[in-house]
Amino acid sequence: MKEKMIEGFKKVFGGDGDIRVFFAPGRVNLIGEHTDYNGGHVFPCALTIGTYAAVRKRNDRTLRFYSENFEEVGVIESSIDDLVNRPEEQWTRYAKGVIWAFKEHGFAADTGFDFYCKGTIPNGSGLSSSASLEILVAKVLIELFGFDTDMFNSAIYGQYAENKYVGVNCGIMDQFAIAMGKKDSAIFLDTATLKYEYVPVKLDGIRLVIGNTNKKRGLGDSKYNERRAECEHALSQIQTVCNAASWGALDEAGFEKCRSAITSPVEAKRAKHAVYENRRTIEAVEALGRNDIARFGELMNASHVSLRDDYEVTGKELDTLVEAAWEQPGVIGARMTGAGFGGCTVSMVRAEKVDDFIKNVGRIYAEKIGYDADFYVVDIGDGPVEL
Ligand code: GLA
Repeated sequence: MKEKMIEGFKKVFGGDGDIRVFFAPGRVNLIGEHTDYNGGHVFPCALTIGTYAAVRKRNDRTLRFYSENFEEVGVIESSIDDLVNRPEEQWTRYAKGVIWAFKEHGFAADTGFDFYCKGTIPNGSGLSSSASLEILVAKVLIELFGFDTDMFNSAIYGQYAENKYVGVNCGIMDQFAIAMGKKDSAIFLDTATLKYEYVPVKLDGIRLVIGNTNKKRGLGDSKYNERRAECEHALSQIQTVCNAASWGALDEAGFEKCRSAITSPVEAKRAKHAVYENRRTIEAVEALGRNDIARFGELMNASHVSLRDDYEVTGKELDTLVEAAWEQPGVIGARMTGAGFGGCTVSMVRAEKVDDFIKNVGRIYAEKIGYDADFYVVDIGDGPVEL
């Protein structure tokens, strides 16, 4: 891949000089959905698919970006003196946002660079192609400019870029999972404290299968910010009767005791999901620790039901894919993953059943939805690297 990236770089930007190649993964969340902005736990892992970039420092202040995934838009040119969010700058806004966020935190790039990239994550599928690009740019900045910061802080700067520059109120999960990824482990992260633990997910004879609904979505046009606002409003009401800094601070009983303080039944459902999903995530990690995969799978399924009925972020494409998965032999558990409203599902499937699983679920999906889903059997990989 390194040679291919350098070759591609030279075709677009020409010349020689020191061309360096970097990679940042995508991520999938195993359980703990819509808990990261509610002070709860998440349990994501980095993937071996992700985003590659070939990069060369320039002597001036110009930034030039090119993506093989958006060939039709060609080279997008900007400058490190113009870190302003312009919609016409399309995908490069995520890259510029990170350059801006680093600058805001005292790490200002003093020259521009040429940036040629290629993603192996399907865009808009819910496997965090945008956070992968953000953390890739963070890695590039650290290596090119020798900034004295690390991947942990990069996750924070990546989220800062997305919140304050791109304008999406996402939590820390995606950037954290990508920046801190570790081969064959998932990250059990407490989003209230940013304390985390690597938990081995080397499951003998079980594969992770991603199902892509091929229903495109972006966080910007989803109801993501609306869900977040609903949770915040309900929290402000419950805080009049109980002492909870966030939904993650309550267990099921604590929530049920104060629930009546929430005036909107819809908001009460959203809050219930946030509390119960956090508890499910803690329990799921415990189950994994004692090798109780069956329980882990049940909790994945319960997570989907809650996202479907209480949080209402699934939709017919995700429900069809997950409900078809539940019926298949060899399936330990299946749920939607990421923000929802389209995007991907994640299933744990016995290795010998994976082919039948893909065939059967694919057929049911195409019959019901009218177009095909895609499937990827994925591996858990490391965080960003220079190749
Ligand atoms: C998106 C956001 C994350 C998280 C998930 C839902 O992926 O970027 O911060 O909120 O949705 O769990």
